[in-house]
Amino acid sequence: MNDELIKIENLDVNFRLKGKLFAPPDVISAVNAVSLSIRKNESFGVVGESGCGKSTLANAILGFVKPDRGRIFYKGQDLLTADKKAFLSLRSGMQTIFQDPYSSLNPRMPVWALISEPLYIRGERDKTVLKARALELLRRVGLGEEDMDRAAPCFSGGQRQRIVIARALALQPEFIICDEPLSALDVSVHAQICNLLQDLRKELRLTYLFISHNLAVVRHMTERMAVMYLGRVVEYGDTEKIYKNPCHPYTRALLSAVPEPDVGGRPPELLRGEVASPINPPAGCRFQSRCAYAKEDCAARPDGLFEAEPEHFTACCMPLLE
Ligand SMILES: Nc1ncnc2c1ncn2[C@@H]1O[C@H](COP(=O)(O)OP(=O)(O)OP(=O)(O)O)[C@@H](O)[C@H]1O
Ligand SMILES: [Mg+2]
Repeated sequence: MNDELIKIENLDVNFRLKGKLFAPPDVISAVNAVSLSIRKNESFGVVGESGCGKSTLANAILGFVKPDRGRIFYKGQDLLTADKKAFLSLRSGMQTIFQDPYSSLNPRMPVWALISEPLYIRGERDKTVLKARALELLRRVGLGEEDMDRAAPCFSGGQRQRIVIARALALQPEFIICDEPLSALDVSVHAQICNLLQDLRKELRLTYLFISHNLAVVRHMTERMAVMYLGRVVEYGDTEKIYKNPCHPYTRALLSAVPEPDVGGRPPELLRGEVASPINPPAGCRFQSRCAYAKEDCAARPDGLFEAEPEHFTACCMPLLE
């Protein structure tokens, strides 16, 4: 489809851990057989419990980790086979907003310099130009001229995240990866930052990959999404369809654990056992050891998704068949 900004095909990312002397290294399967696409101007969510591979997926798109298999297309061009110049040119359209605005801002620099630093790194040395652009961005994120010369420690967590967002916008990106942008912030500012991100997306026609543990926020912030479990996508598609009609036992368990009635409120689905290890994960379905519906043939289940309904795909729909 030509409205795809990102297309990921069969992506595997493994990390090799140093083993004992003369023993082969343990291999962590952090991302496995992941295929998905992110459309232009949409906000695409990724949810799943800690360690399921959300950040690794983001890092693979950004070129911070090298996949072992698969392809990542950005605007139709393969990022993994592009030469350095082509990669840097494509990569310049991407930015990230990380979860911790406390450690991502240099405490000694004034805000105008923090925000315009990406332009400085690109070679802009005219202080008037840098300050003018910083002020424009600062206003865009709801701060003002009086904040230009203050340093990051003078700001609250929510204000710091606004500064991080302004800085991410400095080079006019098209695609922004928001990796847990709210989790270090007080709950009282979550709505403000979400609304700011939504407004900016509309105004600047941005595309987001929005990673979060907070299922209520993902429902509010995204149009399509993927649910990940132990490196694999287990459910994928239209966010509302997934929340209204979760098919995979893992998605159902996640949603039934949310206290908010507009997201959860489903009959409880209990998970058994422990999260399987990403080192030598089980063959077939990776969720089988925790699944209340697991059967013997789950160990032979091929990876991949099937269509549960238009724009809604799942790796399994066992609860619906029972
Ligand atoms: N550089 C690394 N070296 C070795 N293992 C790694 C590395 N980065 C991630 N991992 C492992 O890969 C798996 C996926 O990690 P990842 O950070 O992608 O999870 P996540 O879903 O982002 O978790 P969280 O929600 O806690 O941020 C984990 O088992 C993690 O321990
Ligand atoms: Mg992470």
